[in-house]
Amino acid sequence: MKRLSRREAMGTIITAGAGVTLAGMTEAAAQTPAAPAFRGQHQIKPLPFDAAKLKGISEKLVKSHWENNYSGAVKALNAVEQRLGTMLGDKDLPAYVYGDLKREELARTGSVVLHEHYFANLGGDGKAGDVMLVAIKQHWGSYEQWEAEFKKTGNALGGGSGWVIFAHNFHTDELHNYWSWDHMHNAPFSRPLLVLDMYEHAYHMDYGAAAAKYVDAFMQNVNWEEVNRRFTSSQKAVASLR
Ligand SMILES: [Fe+2]
Repeated sequence: MKRLSRREAMGTIITAGAGVTLAGMTEAAAQTPAAPAFRGQHQIKPLPFDAAKLKGISEKLVKSHWENNYSGAVKALNAVEQRLGTMLGDKDLPAYVYGDLKREELARTGSVVLHEHYFANLGGDGKAGDVMLVAIKQHWGSYEQWEAEFKKTGNALGGGSGWVIFAHNFHTDELHNYWSWDHMHNAPFSRPLLVLDMYEHAYHMDYGAAAAKYVDAFMQNVNWEEVNRRFTSSQKAVASLR
């Protein structure tokens, strides 16, 4: 493989789309191939439903959310990974500078993962059934009791930002509605089953500050077939850990 000169390497990386600044980089760093983990090639997933057909959540809002917030997170994650790959080989880089970008890596990863779960668990009829309904009744006594707690957790995040993550905890083998105030705040070792975005960008265009009305609308659009699929796979994962 041809070794690039410093000038050639800088030109290659700068035009790669990540906008990487190489000021201060050593020649060795510029010539170090990026780790595969830092390829930064995550792809934007299309909306898995017709945005015009959700009940109580407008097409304009959904498309804005998908285009600006979700798609923006994917692009940012790619840029962060590529920049980390470049910085990794720079032995003169202060650790605290690297740490700033590591924080961004975690935040953008959380945003991408949670948004993809969120959009994939929308577009349904809102009627719980099958294995998930059985398990909810076992863990919560009734569907109504579980739903009340899920919505109450969402309403508690109204006016601020965060996520509600109904999850299967692999460590405790329990089902809980976890409160999460940002993309990096999750219960350890748990599989998201149903994800509710409580950032204002997810509802303010339609409901203003009336977050509870958005939570009600969200419940009418839950794709429980997807939630059932996630739960079935998480049950198998938990069984394999025992
Ligand atoms: Fe969002």
